[in-house]
Amino acid sequence: MIINSAAELAGMVEICRIVAVVLREMGKSIKPGVTTKELDEIGRVTLMAYGAYSAPISCYNFPGHTCISVNEEVAHGIPGPRIIKPGDRVNIDVSAVKNGFYGDTAATFAVPPVKNSTQKLLDCAYRALMKAIDAAVAGRLISGLGLAVEKEAHKHGYVTIRNLCGHGVGATLHDDPDNINNYYEKRDRRILQKNAALAIEPFISVKEQYVEEMPDGWTLKTPHNSEVAQFEHTVMVTEGKPMILTLPV
Ligand code: CO
Ligand code: CO
Repeated sequence: MIINSAAELAGMVEICRIVAVVLREMGKSIKPGVTTKELDEIGRVTLMAYGAYSAPISCYNFPGHTCISVNEEVAHGIPGPRIIKPGDRVNIDVSAVKNGFYGDTAATFAVPPVKNSTQKLLDCAYRALMKAIDAAVAGRLISGLGLAVEKEAHKHGYVTIRNLCGHGVGATLHDDPDNINNYYEKRDRRILQKNAALAIEPFISVKEQYVEEMPDGWTLKTPHNSEVAQFEHTVMVTEGKPMILTLPV
């Protein structure tokens, strides 16, 4: 979506702050003994308090208000009775709609004690997101984002998940442009438009590069449980530094 007016920007700013606050509140509650269902309930209540609605439910009939993926799960994990344990890696992805505007944000949290190798992976994934955001400048190639992500991953001996990508966001959850790859696609000659709202979400993986769907019809994981971390922000492209909309102000 291209943000075309002050009113549209205000709508995007509002929903993006809401999903950021929900992510922060859920993240604060991650501790050993809590179930992913209980974390999702915090998401549900917080979204409701701000008058926002879960996008996974309204768009896809997903069986949860947020996506919570633990350890071997990479994305689209279903909240349920799974109990968080020390040393777990927990990915929470919050997307929601208010007044017709969608926002999307995610983070990977590590429950102490955190292995050095896990912290290194998380740090790399976060840096990859920030470098991709820095590359999101109006007039440049969309493929520059994937290039930045891949460079950061390779620098630390990691790879990226190739069949999960970022996307435009705004009037719908998955808006134009689609397929913002987390790798460099030379044939992708699309140009970043000024005022485009993008959800940028690199997935950095220790080894495997593709996820597959589990029999539950939702959860995505790699065939051999590669460790993966992801961070996601919704941003607005400008002619300079993009505006990060999903900060919990
Ligand atoms: Co998301
Ligand atoms: Co997204």
